[in-house]
Amino acid sequence: MALVEVEFPQPHVALVRLNRPEARNALSTELREELRAHFAALSDNADIRAIVLTGNDKAFAAGADIKAMAAMTPGQMKARGDERNWAALRNCPKPIVAAVNGYALGGGCELAMHADIIVAGHGATFGQPEVKLGIMPGAGGTQRLARAVGKYRAMLMLLTGMPISADEAFAAGLVSKVVADEDVVTEALAVAVSIAAMPPLAVAEIKQVLLAGLDAPLDVALMLERRAAYLLFDSNDKREAMQAFVDKRKPLFSGT
Ligand code: CAA
Repeated sequence: MALVEVEFPQPHVALVRLNRPEARNALSTELREELRAHFAALSDNADIRAIVLTGNDKAFAAGADIKAMAAMTPGQMKARGDERNWAALRNCPKPIVAAVNGYALGGGCELAMHADIIVAGHGATFGQPEVKLGIMPGAGGTQRLARAVGKYRAMLMLLTGMPISADEAFAAGLVSKVVADEDVVTEALAVAVSIAAMPPLAVAEIKQVLLAGLDAPLDVALMLERRAAYLLFDSNDKREAMQAFVDKRKPLFSGT
């Protein structure tokens, strides 16, 4: 049985679902390799404009597979080359919307933080409990969390291992939107459909510039932004969108 399933519930939208319910979607090497293959394929699929990533009602993902890691040495951890699996998500040019129900812990929280937008159910919990296992996050948990919620909340979560609720995560800036648990996937799909209706070149530039700019000096980031903004003036979709506004009609985007 596949550990990761992909459906296409709406035009231009993919729904990627982790499917290891018996282990709370713990991120085994096999699961991560499937995830990598799917994201690589979706990144290359010109028809796909937005991706929803979800788990099940109990767990988005409960982190790396502790049972598989229990006897591992540093050399074995390194040999797994897990960074190549994460890179498929990190380098995905399409917007990723995480739809989080239940536990998003450890690598599961790090997985959610690879998304561009996070929709969470009221019952979701986010945490980095690695410290309790005598280890620490290894897929961006110290860095992306600090960038999302700031040093002081990140330190509290990372050093105590204590999870936070969806409402706390929203207040801290880790979550884009909190909805009823049963509405999470529907809401995330609605967000993805809205994005998929936008001109794809503009969407791609906005995602790339925002992410690149976050880690660049402000002057450099603003220059990146200006250049990408000017470049978009050469797109057919820009001409169509502005003409449609003038003509008071709905634009028809070609993605060029
Ligand atoms: N790895 C392996 N198996 C896991 C798992 C994990 N991360 N999380 C849950 N499971 C398994 C359990 O062992 C259990 O299996 P059995 O039925 O065979 O005993 C099954 O999933 C159901 O789990 P629980 O009975 O514990 O379910 P629960 O609803 O009572 O609790 C939970 C859920 C709070 C998520 C709890 O399972 C838990 O605390 N899991 C571990 C969370 C964690 O510490 N994550 C960080 C891992 S390290 C990491 O992620 C960092 C890294 O990249 C290196």
